[in-house]
Amino acid sequence: MALNSRTPAGFVLCLCLGLFCAFSAHSVSLDGKWSLRNSDGSVAGSGSVPGCVHSALQQLGYIQDPYFRFNDVAYRWIAFDNWTYTTTFNTSEQLRSKQKVVLVLDGVDTVASVQLNGFTLGGTDNMFRSYAFSVRPLLKEAENVLSISLASPVLYASQRRKAHSAYPVPPECPPDVQNGQCHVNFIRKEQSSFSWDWGPSFPTLGLWRGVHLEAFDVLQLIQVSSVPLFDSSASRWSVQVELMVDAVQTSDGLVSVSIPELFSDQTYQSRFLQGRTKNTFILHINTSTEVDLWWPRGHGDQNSYRLRVRGLRDGSVLFSQESKVYFRTVELVQEPVPGSPGLSFFFRINSKPVFLKGSNWIPAHAFQDQVTPDILLNLLHSAADANMNALRVWGGGVYEQDQFYDLCDHMGIMVWQDFMFACAMYPTEADFIQTVRSEVIQQVQRLKSHPSIIIWSGNNENEAALATNWFDIPESHRATYVKDYVTLYVENIRALVQQEDPSRPFLVSSPTNGAESEREGWVASNPYDPHFGDTHFYSYEDDCWDWSTFPRTRFASEFGFQSWPSFSTLKTVSVDDDWSYDSNFSSHRQHHEHGNQQMLRQAALHFHLPNSTDALKRFTHTLYMTQVMQAQCVKAQTEFYRRSQTEIIDGKGRTMGALYWQLNDIWPAPSWSSIEFGGKWKMLHYFAQDFFAAVLPVGFEDDGTLLIYAVSDLSPDLTLRAVVSVHSWSGLDPVCTLRSDLVLVPGGSAVVVLKQEVAALLAGCGRCTRLSCLLTFHLEDGTGVQRGPSNYHFLCSPKDAEGLRKANITAKVQEDESGFSVTLRSDAVAPFVWLDVGNIAGRFSSNGFLMVSADRTVGFTPWRPTSVSQLSTSLSVTSLRDVY
Ligand SMILES: *[C@@H]1O[C@H](CO)[C@@H](O)[C@H](O)[C@H]1NC(C)=O
Ligand SMILES: *[C@@H]1O[C@H](CO)[C@@H](O)[C@H](O)[C@H]1NC(C)=O
Ligand SMILES: *[C@@H]1O[C@H](CO)[C@@H](O)[C@H](O)[C@H]1NC(C)=O
Ligand SMILES: *[C@@H]1O[C@H](CO)[C@@H](O)[C@H](O)[C@H]1NC(C)=O
Ligand SMILES: *[C@@H]1O[C@H](CO)[C@@H](O)[C@H](O)[C@H]1NC(C)=O
Ligand SMILES: *[C@@H]1O[C@H](CO)[C@@H](O)[C@H](O)[C@H]1NC(C)=O
Repeated sequence: MALNSRTPAGFVLCLCLGLFCAFSAHSVSLDGKWSLRNSDGSVAGSGSVPGCVHSALQQLGYIQDPYFRFNDVAYRWIAFDNWTYTTTFNTSEQLRSKQKVVLVLDGVDTVASVQLNGFTLGGTDNMFRSYAFSVRPLLKEAENVLSISLASPVLYASQRRKAHSAYPVPPECPPDVQNGQCHVNFIRKEQSSFSWDWGPSFPTLGLWRGVHLEAFDVLQLIQVSSVPLFDSSASRWSVQVELMVDAVQTSDGLVSVSIPELFSDQTYQSRFLQGRTKNTFILHINTSTEVDLWWPRGHGDQNSYRLRVRGLRDGSVLFSQESKVYFRTVELVQEPVPGSPGLSFFFRINSKPVFLKGSNWIPAHAFQDQVTPDILLNLLHSAADANMNALRVWGGGVYEQDQFYDLCDHMGIMVWQDFMFACAMYPTEADFIQTVRSEVIQQVQRLKSHPSIIIWSGNNENEAALATNWFDIPESHRATYVKDYVTLYVENIRALVQQEDPSRPFLVSSPTNGAESEREGWVASNPYDPHFGDTHFYSYEDDCWDWSTFPRTRFASEFGFQSWPSFSTLKTVSVDDDWSYDSNFSSHRQHHEHGNQQMLRQAALHFHLPNSTDALKRFTHTLYMTQVMQAQCVKAQTEFYRRSQTEIIDGKGRTMGALYWQLNDIWPAPSWSSIEFGGKWKMLHYFAQDFFAAVLPVGFEDDGTLLIYAVSDLSPDLTLRAVVSVHSWSGLDPVCTLRSDLVLVPGGSAVVVLKQEVAALLAGCGRCTRLSCLLTFHLEDGTGVQRGPSNYHFLCSPKDAEGLRKANITAKVQEDESGFSVTLRSDAVAPFVWLDVGNIAGRFSSNGFLMVSADRTVGFTPWRPTSVSQLSTSLSVTSLRDVY
């Protein structure tokens, strides 16, 4: 039955204000200061909820900054103790008079026993789900005591490991270099909290999300979720709306669902069963109305509509809520590719193939309570401003907070959402599976209304770990682990996701061969096969300037190189003694075996390493050099993936995604990130602005021939030519310039616009040789307008460049209406010109660039008030020849 009920929700709600209102729900937050103590009471004080023990102990002065120097090791004891959070509260008559009162814990980290007024309500064992306890009979008017006793996560994990005696579930422990804890795969907790190759071991304990009481009569609306579905045969949208409702007893009512802007409105007779139940309604969208779609950034607007749901009984409003609904479709296309064995692997959004450009997201802080809205906003803005359209929320961290996904919806950033399992085998005991099932259902229900999430993925690298036997599992035992793998990710997680969310694809792992892995029993013989699915690829020893070392994959979901953060960031966690590349501190911060040496070896392939006789300079120059190396390496690899989007070469190609590892940092340390802890952009992030640009010229050599590709993510076809300038390392003016013919560049493609032998090009350019000259190039259209950024190609390693001399670069800071600008003047060609204003937060419009002309002006946008004189004092300018 469909009724038209057009009573404005606000009207009925108003009647409840100040007057007796039978159905008004009553929510009381118990967030704030609780008391906190360790097991023997020797450490006690107050701790914030939401919060964690480490944050509280720092605020109380028991510990210093946990990120400082070697404190990760010094504060190990915290995670070996048990901790109890207690709060005391009074309740109002109004609250206690409700038919049902529920205590809701939005997030407990992790293993706890919950007591109210001396009565044990139950336990928790999973950081990724919420818990609710019915508590009305236990509540008193005054002095209710709620206490939550948290067990050491490290000891719990180890006990669970011991209890699982039949066979090991590897890895037993992280590599020594990580200074971490063991058996994190036995506890449903942020997997990187026991340490990672970019992160510290801080196995947190706490109430990391809110605590509240919900009191109501009849029923309460807990959550609304909506997924638009498109029926292509009927060319018709519908919205599957789910209401999670808690009913005191089974009761009938009317539910109205509407999207007023789409003239779509339906009312349903419904029956709410006693307890927490999911109630599903299908709203058919009025076909005579045009629906404005949600698009990824760069492909269209992020349109949304208001969705209104109301529950009515006997003319009274039971509940009323408004949320946003976004219309978009997503398909993961895996189909035969002409001229290539294997299957394609790309995303079609609203029927349009979309190349995913971006990176991988890790937790923004070891202590999640310290991840503020500002931090999320700044990181996501940084991603968007670097022309990214996608992020993968990696499976060793946390399902992010709502605001993260709201921002991604709003900015058009597509999210590849892993489930939180990474780089390990996992147990499959009944209670483990049961808590994972609750986790999956809750997270999918919480997140599925977000259009930004375009895929669910079961785990990070666990198919590859099994297939390529990372953990030396004897062949005779392999079947046990494959069975556990299929039980967890296929029979449980995949089945649940498909039941809860029909609106987006599910992939069992990353990397995976996708449909081919499924055909091979879910664990492919080689999940890294470039003919199928996605790949993760790392190689630190090969020359990263040699594109032939990269896999011509369908989709690059991880690849990257490490670098060190800037000196100003390191200074916040170190002292003078630490400031050398071979200090104990520099080794201690490096959690990736041989990482520091790998960076230098890679850099030395093309650059002179810093050799100043001033030790501090040598250190800061080395930090700079690792950033130059990283930026160049990731640029080369990303440009390779982008230019491989159209062609098939040797049966491989049609690359449709490049997500480098990794966007952000969890603490100040060397890592693969392009943004330092604190938000400062590394050189790589400035490079990403260019190499992810919608229109990009890519130049490279193939056997002595220079090729320039035009890559375009724009929808319309373009007609472009390449303009190549040959510069001498020793002089500022171009030696000569070459223009290609105009070439048609179809929307969403990569095509060759120029092809010429380097020897011939140089011969036509007088006195140039590979050692004495370099190339810059850009694309322009038929009217001579430049499209996309300028780019460059070195004909030799800069360490061999003849005539490259120390540039004298002067800088002048000025203030203008849009912020600050820095005007640079150089007397020589200067590669990798790096502006740094120390700890003045903000960012430049571009940085790390090649100066082949005397003048350049860049903008600086501060994130906090500053001045011309502060900036001028802090500004340093470094270019390549300054370091040796
Ligand atoms: C923490 O609790 C566990 C389990 O109850 C117990 O075995 C352990 O001894 C406790 N640790 C401390 C330091 O009291
Ligand atoms: C709670 O109730 C007790 C007893 O009535 C009273 O002494 C106390 O001040 C109340 N606390 C608060 C925070 O209202
Ligand atoms: C569909 O929308 C049109 C306006 O575009 C409206 O006139 C019509 O009544 C709507 N149909 C229904 C079934 O609501
Ligand atoms: C560095 O670490 C080593 C081994 O732990 C220790 O012996 C040495 O004293 C440390 N040096 C400094 C300067 O702290
Ligand atoms: C660098 O250039 C500036 C401005 O042209 C000049 O004043 C200064 O002396 C130069 N410095 C060196 C070391 O050549
Ligand atoms: C640093 O290295 C460069 C290049 O090899 C060399 O020319 C220079 O003399 C070295 N400087 C010092 C101080 O060793």
